[in-house]
Amino acid sequence: MKEVIDYIDSNKSRYVEELKEFLRIPSISTLQENIKDMQQGAQFVADKLKNAGMNRVEIFQTKGHPLIYGEWLGAPGKPTVLIYGHYDVQPVDPIELWSSPPFEPTIVGDNIFARGATDDKGQMYMHVKSVESFFKTRGSLPLNVKFLIEGEEEIGSENLSIFLKNNTDLLKCDAVLISDTALFAPGVPTITYGLRGLCYMEIEVTGPSRDLHSGTFGGGVPNPINVLTKMISELIDKNGRIKIDGFYDDVLKLSKQERDNFKALKFSEKQWAQAIGLKHLTGEKGYTTLERIWARPTLDCNGIWGGFIEKGAKTVIPSKASVKISMRLVPHQEPKKIEKLFTKYIKKIAPKEVSVKITGLHGGYPVITPLGDKGTIAGAKAMNLAFGKKTIFMREGGSIPIVVEFAEKLNASPVLMGLGLNTENLHSPNEHFNLNHFQLGIKSSAYFLDEYSK
Ligand code: BES
Ligand code: MN
Ligand code: MN
Repeated sequence: MKEVIDYIDSNKSRYVEELKEFLRIPSISTLQENIKDMQQGAQFVADKLKNAGMNRVEIFQTKGHPLIYGEWLGAPGKPTVLIYGHYDVQPVDPIELWSSPPFEPTIVGDNIFARGATDDKGQMYMHVKSVESFFKTRGSLPLNVKFLIEGEEEIGSENLSIFLKNNTDLLKCDAVLISDTALFAPGVPTITYGLRGLCYMEIEVTGPSRDLHSGTFGGGVPNPINVLTKMISELIDKNGRIKIDGFYDDVLKLSKQERDNFKALKFSEKQWAQAIGLKHLTGEKGYTTLERIWARPTLDCNGIWGGFIEKGAKTVIPSKASVKISMRLVPHQEPKKIEKLFTKYIKKIAPKEVSVKITGLHGGYPVITPLGDKGTIAGAKAMNLAFGKKTIFMREGGSIPIVVEFAEKLNASPVLMGLGLNTENLHSPNEHFNLNHFQLGIKSSAYFLDEYSK
């Protein structure tokens, strides 16, 4: 592997320059105004895959944003690795909190700042460069590789899901390599073996048919904000348990072994709290913070609105009030089932004097991969080699909904080799990616392809 690793080292600055170019494209999947940028983002990925040495590189248009496929199948008899990532990014608001413009990548110290730097352009690009480094030195890859890069991860991967269903032959593989998660701590090689799922709901409460004078009518009519907030307060009990009937029925219990493994990790609740401006933490009684965020389901309001929210005062009883709620799920909870249970419970606690509309916005299955899997073992070995340290295993609180479909539809096990950090401001202002991790990630990817071919 020496020649490949040396090549990665000697091309470090060029790789960073290319990443900058990628980060300048404002490929925000959720905004209509960026639709052209999505095409440009896809074109960038396709061009770079071709230049790296991949064959049959194609941009597939979908009902939504394009996805990119590329392959190199020059190693008959060897396994096939599918590399997945996403080139879409989150919106940049609140823009005034960015220290440098989100689409003008700026290097400060070891970090590159830009929207998408760590989630997921920087991480995805590591694999493009790892593959290039093989082609440039050896003229071939140690096994067969397919790339599948999408532009809708941040909005639910709907069209990738359809593509997957219709192209199982094209995408056939033995393992799926994904870098869209985080290291446990800076410089600590990490394989993630679990992701939480998601069930995202919206509730709209309607009282009177129009806004009313709060003096003339107040006290004699239901107030949708009062009603909604009271309902929200009935979702979680004082021990942090979710009160929805049946919510915990399918939850995979934490084993003693797993709890011990979590405890063995060097984690300071105090430092973790401090880093996010908190003095005290909270959560479900009887569980540690790592258990709460990795292996227990949650329910959180994500946004709430209704009535008068401008400066000053307006005496009004609003006609409507709404809330968005996300529930993070753990194996073996099912998003559709949780949606039904949530809806049933909300209907049960809604008072008859208001009408309630409940809508499911999107969902995703949780994942857990066996630690003894060939891919997981190769991933850990690869990171050991790249970092010169022993790889640790962790679960993750975030979600990548498509991962389960890889496992189910392609019968291939996912390998979550994330190089980000949860402190790198993904989805918030001043997103950044550590360039040392970028470099280590390219090497980890290269070692993985080598290890998995054995
Ligand atoms: N890369 C993240 C998932 C993630 C977050 C992994 C933090 C590790 C640490 C992914 O792009 C993401 O943001 N997922 C969404 C999924 C949702 C939009 C369906 C999430 O978790 O909110
Ligand atoms: Mn991501
Ligand atoms: Mn994301």
